[in-house]
Amino acid sequence: MVETKWGQQAEALAQGRLDAVILNDWYAIASLAALSPGTVQSARVLDQDLVIWCGQDGTVQVWADRCPHRSVRLSRGKVVANTLVCPYHGMVYDTTGQCIQVPAHPDYVPPKQACVRSYPVQVQYGLVFVCLGDDPSAIAPFPEWTDDQFVKALAGPYPCQTGGYRAIENFLDLAHFAHLHTGILGDLEFPQVGDYAVTTDDRGVHFDDIHIWQPDPMNTGQGGFVTYAYSAFRPLTAYFRKTTPDGDCLTIWYVVTPVSEAECIGWMWMALNFIDASQTDDAIAFQDKVFEQDRDSLESHNPKRLPLDLTTEFHVPCDRGSLAYRQWLKQLGVTYGTL
Ligand SMILES: [Fe+2]
Repeated sequence: MVETKWGQQAEALAQGRLDAVILNDWYAIASLAALSPGTVQSARVLDQDLVIWCGQDGTVQVWADRCPHRSVRLSRGKVVANTLVCPYHGMVYDTTGQCIQVPAHPDYVPPKQACVRSYPVQVQYGLVFVCLGDDPSAIAPFPEWTDDQFVKALAGPYPCQTGGYRAIENFLDLAHFAHLHTGILGDLEFPQVGDYAVTTDDRGVHFDDIHIWQPDPMNTGQGGFVTYAYSAFRPLTAYFRKTTPDGDCLTIWYVVTPVSEAECIGWMWMALNFIDASQTDDAIAFQDKVFEQDRDSLESHNPKRLPLDLTTEFHVPCDRGSLAYRQWLKQLGVTYGTL
């Protein structure tokens, strides 16, 4: 992989902290709806500063956020037609990242190395994804995306001062419901967690048939028994499907972007088969509330990186899902953000 020798990512690669699985995965960096022609934004993924810009033709580019001339941030620049112009000396870059114009020398032809590193971009599920590696994997499926029975609502982004796998583990964890989501997803009178099955296959790690009672599982003000099925499809993409005996169903497709080994940003697509489109704001507000209840605990993790050495923390029977997730990460060869 070609990389600037100034980048922290290059340092992580050199130190063996950054592995191929994490480097070649796709990470959500913007909502497509927030990118209109002419928009320039910054993002940070795997310790790499990025500029996201949208040309006047609507095409989205994601590049290293550094002008190769004097190393200033291109995200402070502006879009002119389908080019990005550096704020410092007005260098003009075309959609391939090549410098095509130097205002101080109108007749100067910039050399080939006057080129910004660009990254593969995919727009999927209304989100812009970037891959920083040269051998991109696949974006995990969101099963309800094309199912018209479900209304979709995007919650987040949720920036969080913890490692991405801690955020995923929290998403997959039921035993904290009684304590952090009292009165909504759990009840202090009933903190017990029953047995559940865990399987690992080539689609990831899955926990099935988890039956629990929740005081207000669907934000309807009604308590009831629900059944959960969870999956971690990718190291930083997880999913659950929660159903009531009446057939009401909420699924959440959760993608977590690793800003660094200790910071992340979560994006949650919800799919609900029991509301209409006018109720999506309520569904998002509910998810915002649940995430804020999780935040203090999430950000207090020490270490923020996830220990794959299972002797670092102790485990109880209902942690079998978290153990399977950690073992799977180890099997995949994930090193970034782990200990
Ligand atoms: Fe939670």
